[in-house]
Amino acid sequence: MIIAIDGPAGSGKSTAAKIIAQRLNFRYIDTGAMYRAVALSAQRKNADLHDLDIIAKIAEKLDIQLIPQAEGQQVLADGEDVTALLKNETVGAGAAIVAAQPKVREVLIAKQRELGKKGGVVMDGRDIGTVVFPNAEFKFFMEANPEERGRRRYLELKEKNPSANLEEIIEQVKRRDHEDRNRKISPLVMAEDGMLLDTTRFNPNEVVEQILEIIEKK
Ligand code: DC
Repeated sequence: MIIAIDGPAGSGKSTAAKIIAQRLNFRYIDTGAMYRAVALSAQRKNADLHDLDIIAKIAEKLDIQLIPQAEGQQVLADGEDVTALLKNETVGAGAAIVAAQPKVREVLIAKQRELGKKGGVVMDGRDIGTVVFPNAEFKFFMEANPEERGRRRYLELKEKNPSANLEEIIEQVKRRDHEDRNRKISPLVMAEDGMLLDTTRFNPNEVVEQILEIIEKK
């Protein structure tokens, strides 16, 4: 069984996906980390992120291993633990650029299909229910309004960076949404047979309970 959870940044999908995977004893796979790993690798090489050929080669060569952990996943890139580095904003911005490139998507989608082929996974991303596993048993699409998603991000960032600015972060969220929803390949859209969950007014536990109820009913 494959549970696909798609949605924009800050919709609460990774928090919910992690808890659901624990509760069902499934493996949690965060596909955003793969795009981030490619971006990080390119940035470290000082490569031009817009150079399709160079980025394609980096994506093809990079050995990305996702190691399941009690909470979430550890990411190894060519054997190095880059988990913490991937959370960085600069890497996130780079990931949005490389994620729009067909060859990068082809390479990473093949890895994702390989990881999911035995089932028992909760996979989160942007195109899991539409492209990676269009036949997934469950497809959820999580949404929340941009102000609420910005506020969540702000609370997260503020711990590390007291000068974080809420208005700026909301603008960033809107900009990233625009890029993800309007790119030519695998744009962020809900699968036709996806289930929409608006999490604006719910906390992660409430979202998890809603999802588990839907799964159990089936
Ligand atoms: O979820 P995230 O912020 O870690 O994702 C990083 C970037 O990768 C973001 O711009 C969306 C993109 N992405 C994607 O295009 N497809 C996925 N399956 C996962 C992430």
